[in-house]
This record gives sequence, structure tokens and C-alpha cells, in this order.
Amino acid sequence: MFHSKNILGPETDIDIIIEAFYSKLVKDDRVRDFFTIVDLEAVKRKQINFFNIILSDDDKNVQNYMKTSHTELVNDFGLNDNHFNALHEVLAETLCEFRIEENYREKLLGKMEQLRPHVLCK
Ligand code: HEM
Repeated sequence: MFHSKNILGPETDIDIIIEAFYSKLVKDDRVRDFFTIVDLEAVKRKQINFFNIILSDDDKNVQNYMKTSHTELVNDFGLNDNHFNALHEVLAETLCEFRIEENYREKLLGKMEQLRPHVLCK
């Protein structure tokens, strides 16, 4: 069973972090184009999904899911390592701003990094 509130610390409100993360992404010149092609509410739901997915322990399904949900972005919109790095950096920055403890931060960012080859369909 997945407990989003625990993985980032006992007092953390995941929705507020996602809101902040998303609002940074849509303003970031490196990746904003990817997020403006989809509708706002759908993207927000997906950002919540995003955290659920990267924090899930069901790795095999997660890997396949990440690959299929980003294939079009890789093939048709050139999603690459630079975009992935930008997302990683913005997430790290957001977690710091919310004063998420280092051990929680590293766990989340480490899980995200493991998904790189799947997201980028390598
Ligand atoms: C570990 C890294 C990543 C994770 C865990 C992740 C997670 C997700 C998830 C869960 C979805 C929803 C899929 C669905 O059910 O439709 C999604 C879609 C999406 N992701 Fe990612 N993502 C990652 C990296 C990226 C990067 C680097 C970009 C672009 C800079 C990106 C842009 C998008 C966009 C635009 C969608 C919406 C696609 C659509 O609706 O057609 N993602 N992502």
C-alpha cells in the first residue's frame, strides 16, 4: 500500500508540493512546451499520478507505463535527457523549498532517476 504523506515526511501535504512543482514547470523555458500542449486539469491529475507512480514499489508495471505514456513525446516532440534533467532539477528545488528532509528527498529523486531510460524509451 502506498502512503504518499509518509514518504515525504509525516507532515507533508503532497497536493501543495505538486501544485508548486507544476507551476514551476509551466514557467520553465526548458520544458514548458511539453506541459502547455495538454489541458490543465488533466495535467494536474497526472502530476498527482506522477508522485504515486514514482513512489510505487511495483517497478515492472511502472517502467512499462512510463515508456508507453512518453513514447509519443519522445518520437514526435523530441523529449530527451536535457528535458529529464530539467524536471529532476525543478523537483529537487521544489522539495528543498518545502524543506523536505534530505533522506526523503534523495529517495524520491533516486526513484525518479531510475525511470530515466523508460521515460526516454531507451
Ligand atoms: C521520472 C520522470 C517522469 C515521471 C515519473 C513521469 C510521470 C508521468 C505520468 C504518470 C504521466 C501520466 C500518464 C498517463 O496516464 O497519461 C505523464 C505524462 C506526461 N509527462 Fe511525464 N513523467 C516523467 C518525465 C517527464 C518529462 C521529463 C517530461 C517533459 C519534460 C514529461 C512530460 C509529460 C507530459 C507532457 C505528459 C502528458 C502526456 C499526454 O497527456 O499525452 N514527463 N508523466
